[in-house]
Amino acid sequence: MAFTFFFRDLPTLHAIRDYVIPELHKNRYINVWDAGCAMGPEPYSLAIIFKETLGHYEFKRLKIYATDLDEESHDFGKIVSKGIYPEETVKRIPKDIFKKYFSANNKPGHFQIADEIKQCVTFQRHDLRSLEPIRDGFGLIVCKNVLLHFPECDRIEVIKMFHRSLAPGGFLATEQTQKMPRKTAYRFKQITPNIKLFQKV
Ligand SMILES: C[S@@+](CC[C@H](N)C(=O)[O-])C[C@H]1O[C@@H](n2cnc3c(N)ncnc32)[C@H](O)[C@@H]1O
Repeated sequence: MAFTFFFRDLPTLHAIRDYVIPELHKNRYINVWDAGCAMGPEPYSLAIIFKETLGHYEFKRLKIYATDLDEESHDFGKIVSKGIYPEETVKRIPKDIFKKYFSANNKPGHFQIADEIKQCVTFQRHDLRSLEPIRDGFGLIVCKNVLLHFPECDRIEVIKMFHRSLAPGGFLATEQTQKMPRKTAYRFKQITPNIKLFQKV
């Protein structure tokens, strides 16, 4: 599975903190889908941002559904659920955050993520090309560095599926280099010019 690392896209995490969390914190349940999550640093980074921003009880209402195709590793869920990561994936985490949520693991050069962060993230296999959402009513869907490999027509169908599975006013975050296709652009409004963060209209 592709290499990825914690806090890979800080500007998007900050936009989620500033624009998305203030909207979602009012909801009884806060459901987030991270589609194409690789080995977990992205959904765990999201969980940390929610933890840093929400109050104690609000954070308990957060559930992050992290999915990936998992073509190579048949132990994807098990590996990610352990929450143990090598140094190269954690070295870009801001120091104060790292100190709060990570501890050294018995395995040399590896670090363990805190249980409170692990507990709000669940992992499952899912193929975006199935066009079947894992559920609906999401407040936020994050899908980064996945659809760039899809042909335009497939990308459009996946974005339509995301639109259907978002709650009214829900948000979609993609990578910075992704251009929202013309055929789906009218279904969303871009929240801030420099970040690919969209709200369902
Ligand atoms: C480059 S990684 C991106 C990881 C993470 N989102 C990030 O931006 O750091 C792309 C991930 O997309 C997954 N992927 C590719 N095609 C997929 C599909 N059809 N359905 C679900 N996941 C897929 C791959 O397995 C891989 O883990």
